[in-house]
Amino acid sequence: MINKRNLIKTSLFFTLFGISSFKNLFSENNSNYSKSKINKKVIAKTGQKIPSIGMGTWLTFDVGHNTKTILKRTEVLKKFFEYGGELIDSSPMYGTSERVIGKCLEKIDIPYKLFSATKVWTPNTWHGKKQIKNSFNLWKVNKFDLIQVHNLVNYEEHLENLYELKRSKVIDYIGITTSHGWRHEKTMDIMKRYNLDFVQFTYNIFDVEAEKYLLDLAYEKNISVIANRPFQGGSLFNYTSNKQLPVWAKKEGINNWASFFLKFIISHPAITCAIPATTNALHMEENMQSMYGFFPDKKFREKMKSYFKEL
Ligand SMILES: NC(=O)c1ccc[n+]([C@@H]2O[C@H](COP(=O)([O-])OP(=O)(O)OC[C@H]3O[C@@H](n4cnc5c(N)ncnc54)[C@H](OP(=O)(O)O)[C@@H]3O)[C@@H](O)[C@H]2O)c1
Repeated sequence: MINKRNLIKTSLFFTLFGISSFKNLFSENNSNYSKSKINKKVIAKTGQKIPSIGMGTWLTFDVGHNTKTILKRTEVLKKFFEYGGELIDSSPMYGTSERVIGKCLEKIDIPYKLFSATKVWTPNTWHGKKQIKNSFNLWKVNKFDLIQVHNLVNYEEHLENLYELKRSKVIDYIGITTSHGWRHEKTMDIMKRYNLDFVQFTYNIFDVEAEKYLLDLAYEKNISVIANRPFQGGSLFNYTSNKQLPVWAKKEGINNWASFFLKFIISHPAITCAIPATTNALHMEENMQSMYGFFPDKKFREKMKSYFKEL
């Protein structure tokens, strides 16, 4: 969703400087990105395209009311937008994250395009409606692109309400989430019985459980997939500290482990978007770089998986 203020800013920006200047944003940081094309994936139900790297906000944006820290997170978010990011994922479960997103968005002084994704997370139906209203206020948006039922909590009731909101055109897409390999059977059951636009679950080079059935089912049912915990909560980097990237990956322009992990995920045909979370603008840069350049095919992805297993 582009808000009005930024739509004007964006149009002006592109009119004045042309599309190539958008690309030049990156050339200041690293000339490799000036000519490359961002990787976008199609939302199966509508054909809308979104960048394949989004941003998670659990813990990382739950920073309370500390103005200095909110400014730091604004820099992280600015980097995300500079590299063409759009999808931000949050939840009322993430403490002050939604409020902090709203504060950061207010401070962003460059053109950006937002795909807003939050969740409803409560066993109580009435409270769920209140929670959604609150999310609109905290993010300071008048429309959500996506609202998901967090961890399948009270999904029957919340989905009914979300369908109603979709009919009223207050939200565009509906989804459900799970993580850590939990409740895959139930998730698949809901995917089969309900008309969903999105499903979110954990998928990364270490946790490949979703390869058994979930990814295939999502692909078959035209449900777009958001991969959460792409770095297994950050623990993937424990395996790679002081380890060199393999030469065959470097040869393809993969120059950091974050890109190695993220390219593995987003090159899967059933994946629409991965949502790494970070507090660090330099890490954000590494994460966003994975959307550019070479994309692994099936054979290459298997090679990545085997290599990681041996670390
Ligand atoms: N059920 C659900 O709906 C559900 C469950 C879990 C997660 N999620 C969503 O998925 C998002 C991502 O999952 P997550 O936050 O658990 O974990 P994650 O994204 O797998 O890992 C986050 C950790 O990775 C580190 N990191 C990020 N980029 C890095 C880089 N380039 N180099 C080194 N370290 C890096 C971060 O530390 P630094 O801050 O130092 O960069 C942070 O500690 C969540 O934020 C949330 O939005 C949803």
